[in-house]
Amino acid sequence: MRSIILALFLAAACGKSSGQPATERTSGSGTASGSGTDVLLCDGKTKVTIPGNTPPTRASGQQVSDALMAQWKQQNPGGAWEEDVRRSHAHAIKPPADNRAVFTGAQRDAQTYGQYTEVDLLTWERETLRAVYEGARVFHSGEELGSTIGVSCDMCHPDAANTHPETYPKFQPQMGRVVLLRDMINWCIEHPLRGTAFAADDRRMRALETYIYAQRSGTPLTYGKH
Ligand code: HEC
Repeated sequence: MRSIILALFLAAACGKSSGQPATERTSGSGTASGSGTDVLLCDGKTKVTIPGNTPPTRASGQQVSDALMAQWKQQNPGGAWEEDVRRSHAHAIKPPADNRAVFTGAQRDAQTYGQYTEVDLLTWERETLRAVYEGARVFHSGEELGSTIGVSCDMCHPDAANTHPETYPKFQPQMGRVVLLRDMINWCIEHPLRGTAFAADDRRMRALETYIYAQRSGTPLTYGKH
């Protein structure tokens, strides 16, 4: 049974490596138009089929996300991360590290590029936060993410909950290989969002990585963890 599932995952991974977004369409699936678009969740298993002509608006994207998550939660009863985050706060950004230690002790004496000033520290903080805010913007925008069905990451991962960037690289069964965070981001862009994968250096990919890592600040690295 496991090997059959793995074979399916590998088939999906092969489709991905052709550089095409996942565009399989079903026909005669019982929808009113007789055809529909399959949308897979990040797990590569949970699926909903929507009418092919569904507009890519935030409202319909939210419906698709809710339908996928309702199914997923039935199969994963402990997976209430979404409610937990929504209840606790709205749209918080974790602050970057406090670097004032560069003014004291050994850190001050070891400064390679001259003595840093308060202005330097403010610049580091401002520029870093700017990158995180850009990431938050992309993470929350189906349009920026190139979703063809109006879905964005925040609809299922409020404040980047349950994205676990600290566990990468790790083997992901749905892709059949060891992947980096950015590979997983692309998988999610192609599946629940039905968009086209970003290049590793795409400004939106850089923004998403920045935001996701920032939101997990303080979590120890444990690569390979499931
Ligand atoms: C429709 C809901 C939904 C949407 C939209 C969605 N995800 Fe996910 N995502 C999930 C679920 C559910 C899982 C857990 C799957 C599993 O059990 O393997 C997951 C898993 C992940 C993981 C792996 C977490 C881990 O533990 O390794 C990452 C990273 C991730 N998503 C990022 C994203 C990003 C980035 C986007 C937007 C491009 C996105 N997701 C969009 C529901 C969603």
